Amino acid sequence: MENKIKQTNIAKITVDGKTYELPIYSGSTGPSAIDVRNLHKLTGLFTFDIGYTSTCSTESQITFIDGGKGQLLYRGYPIEQLAEHSTFLETSYLLIHGELPTKDQSTKFTNIITNHTMLHEQIERFFNGFRRDAHPMAMVCGTVGALSAFYHDSLDIEDNEQRDISMHRLIAKMPTIAARAYKYSIGQPTIYPDNSLNYAENFLKMCFAVPTEKYEVNPIIADAMDKIFILHADHEQNASTSTVRLAGSSGANPFACIAAGVACLWGPSHGGANEACLNMLKEIGSVDRIPEFIARAKDRNDPFRLMGFGHRVYKNYDPRAKVMQKTTHAVLGELGIKDSPILDIAMELEKIALNDPYFVEKKLYPNVDFYSGIVLSALGFPTSMFTVLFALARTVGWVSQWNEMLEDKTQRIGRPRQLYTGATSRDYIPLANR
Ligand code: CMC
Repeated sequence: MENKIKQTNIAKITVDGKTYELPIYSGSTGPSAIDVRNLHKLTGLFTFDIGYTSTCSTESQITFIDGGKGQLLYRGYPIEQLAEHSTFLETSYLLIHGELPTKDQSTKFTNIITNHTMLHEQIERFFNGFRRDAHPMAMVCGTVGALSAFYHDSLDIEDNEQRDISMHRLIAKMPTIAARAYKYSIGQPTIYPDNSLNYAENFLKMCFAVPTEKYEVNPIIADAMDKIFILHADHEQNASTSTVRLAGSSGANPFACIAAGVACLWGPSHGGANEACLNMLKEIGSVDRIPEFIARAKDRNDPFRLMGFGHRVYKNYDPRAKVMQKTTHAVLGELGIKDSPILDIAMELEKIALNDPYFVEKKLYPNVDFYSGIVLSALGFPTSMFTVLFALARTVGWVSQWNEMLEDKTQRIGRPRQLYTGATSRDYIPLANR
C-alpha cells in the first residue's frame, strides 16, 4: 500500500504549562486524526481510549463508513450498488486489489478460487474428532487455524506470491469448511465441492444436498446468498478485523490470523448478534409482547438489549440492513412463505423502536443483523450457523486488511499500553506468614 495521509494541520497540547505540537493528518474523506505516536516520548503521557472510540489504528484504503449518513463504501463503491450489480467473487477481487476486475482478471480470479475449494482429505479426520454437539463456530475456528498445519507452502508472509495463495485458499476453502461443520453437526455425510457451480451455489449445495438425491440450486436463493456474502464482506476496523491485524502485526501466519478473527467474531456484540437477534424475536413470540421488551431494553437495571439495534459507527440506518430487508422479502416470496410471525414481529419492533424517544435520542437504528437471522433461517440454516456464514463472507475482508497491513511500510507490532491501577511494588510474603 502506498501511504497517502497528508499533514493538514497541527494540534497543540499543553501539559504542566509546556505546549507540544502534534501533526493532524487528513485522509481522502472522513474525520482527520491527531498523530499521537510521539506523545509518550514528548510528554511521558499515554492516551486513554477504552474500546478505541477515538483511535485510528491504521491508515487504510479498503472500506469507508460514514456512520452519520449511513454510508458504506468498498474501495469507493456504495454497498447498495455492489449488492445490486456485483457478485461476491467480483467484490472479493475489488476488496483485495482495489479495482473492479477486467473480464480476463475476473475469469482468472474465479478459476483460481474455484480450483482451491477442496480441503486436504486429512482435515476430514479433524471433524471426526469434534463432539457431535460441537457448535459449528467452534469447528470453524479450530479448522481454520489448523489449515496452517496443512499448507506449509504458503506460510511465508514476506513472499507476495505465497500471501496471494493463502488468501485464495482461505476464500475458496471457507465455504467447504463452513458446510462441513454444518453437515457434521446434523450427522450427514460430507458433500464435496462442485466446481461447475458458482461460489454461492456451491456453498448451498454443500450444505443442503444429500448423496441420495439430486440437488437443484434455486437461482433466486443463490443470488440472495451471494448478496448476503457481499453485505458482510468487509466493515473497516471492526473488532474481528482489528484482531486479525493485531495477530498479523506479530508476523503470525495467515491461517492463524483468520482463526483469531473467527474467534472474535463469535461474540454476541459482534457477529453473534444475528443468532441472538433471531432468538430474541422468537422469545418475544407475539407482536403484543413487544412493549414489554422495549421497556426492558430501556431499563438501565436490566442488561437486556434489543439485539440487531445500535452500532458503534452507524448513527443512522445501517445501509446493509436496508438491502437485507429487501432480500428477506425476496427470499420469503420465492419460498412461498406468506405468513412469517417472526418477520411480523421484526417489522413491528422496528417501527416501534424507530419512533421511541429512547432509541431516537441514542440514534439506535436496525443493523445488518436485524434481518439477516430471518432470511438465513428461511434459507434453511439453523441459528448456530448464522455467525459461520458471517465468518465465511468476512474472510475476504480479513485477508484484504491483513494483506494491506503487510504492504504498509509504517506497520509495527500492535502493542497498546494501560493505565495501571493495581498494587504497587511490594515484597513477597512467605506462605507461613499469610
Ligand atoms: N438496546 C438498548 N440500548 C442500547 C442498545 C440496544 N441494542 N445499543 C446501545 N444501547 C444504549 C446503551 O445502553 C447506551 O446507553 P447509555 O448511554 O444510557 O449508557 C448507549 O445506547 C450507547 O451504547 P454503547 O454500548 O455505549 O455503544 P457501543 O458503541 O459500545 O455498542 C453495540 C455498540 C453494537 C455493541 C450495541 O449497540 C449493542 O450491544 N447492540 C446490540 C448487539 C448488536 O446488534 N450487535 C451487532 C452489531 S452490527 C454487526 C457487526 O458489525 O458486528
